[in-house]
Amino acid sequence: MSGPECESHTGATTHAEHGERVAAMFGRIAGWYDFLNHALSGGQDIFWRYRLARAARPEPGGMVLDLAAGTMDVSVELLRQYPECRVAALDFALPMLENGKRRKLKDGREERIFPVQADGRALPLPDDSMAAATIAFGIRNILPREDAYAEFLRVLKPGARLCILEFGTGSKRVWKGLYNFYLDKLLPFIGDRISGDSCAYRYLAETIKSFPDERALGCELLQAGFERVYNVPMMSGIVYLHVAEKPLKKGGAPKPAATKKAAPKKAASKTGKQASRSVKSSGTARRK
Ligand SMILES: C[S@@+](CC[C@H](N)C(=O)[O-])C[C@H]1O[C@@H](n2cnc3c(N)ncnc32)[C@H](O)[C@@H]1O
Repeated sequence: MSGPECESHTGATTHAEHGERVAAMFGRIAGWYDFLNHALSGGQDIFWRYRLARAARPEPGGMVLDLAAGTMDVSVELLRQYPECRVAALDFALPMLENGKRRKLKDGREERIFPVQADGRALPLPDDSMAAATIAFGIRNILPREDAYAEFLRVLKPGARLCILEFGTGSKRVWKGLYNFYLDKLLPFIGDRISGDSCAYRYLAETIKSFPDERALGCELLQAGFERVYNVPMMSGIVYLHVAEKPLKKGGAPKPAATKKAAPKKAASKTGKQASRSVKSSGTARRK
């Protein structure tokens, strides 16, 4: 899908062009991606992905979608925690998947993790087929996000979870100055020195700062038709884990077009304020 309304930090004017530019950018830094991830987060990213996978809770033997899988660290962690599952590792940037495949899909993992180049806005997966879905540091890159939410909702089985890992906006007072210095100065500098691509790391900083905060993201998920939405802050809100469920009841998940026109009864009929109240923080809406 494309349109002139695209507000992209890549300078693209259409959503299709944005997708291509983002994929090309990740393709350029694929070789350095894992090293920089671990270095820039001080190794914390391993724990964040562990928490993400733990929240997914797929049924035994089910297929889990790991969208924007990149070099497949999340896919590998999902398989480690749920050895009976299979993982569909989808990403737009082929070099990211190839890099991860070369280094990580061995010792039997290659029989359970399936890397596929695909756009998160048009998933090559059947309806109601996934036992859980994850996306780590990927939803920020997809425009418009509503298309990805609609696809997640379509492919998930009723009652299955969507788990999103994403950076917070850094608006919390305690971190604000330090975090913004890190994003604006340190990140592009280190990214440039190591990967030779300061643009990619400047893009990272800009998209983190302009991304909706945790409550707004929760509202987006409710409005897309998910329910039981909650978030868990990590590292004082530098990173958030968002969890949402596809409704069990048939018809509970509205189609995106219906969301805008005639709002159906459940989550999609909520006003922004009502939806905002329904988003729980710190895991208070966990499944019993
Ligand atoms: C920051 S990386 C995250 C990789 C991995 N999930 C991780 O935790 O390290 C973001 C990934 O999103 C992918 N991506 C961006 N737009 C996409 C889209 N429209 N569909 C699928 N993947 C996309 C990029 O190619 C990139 O690999």
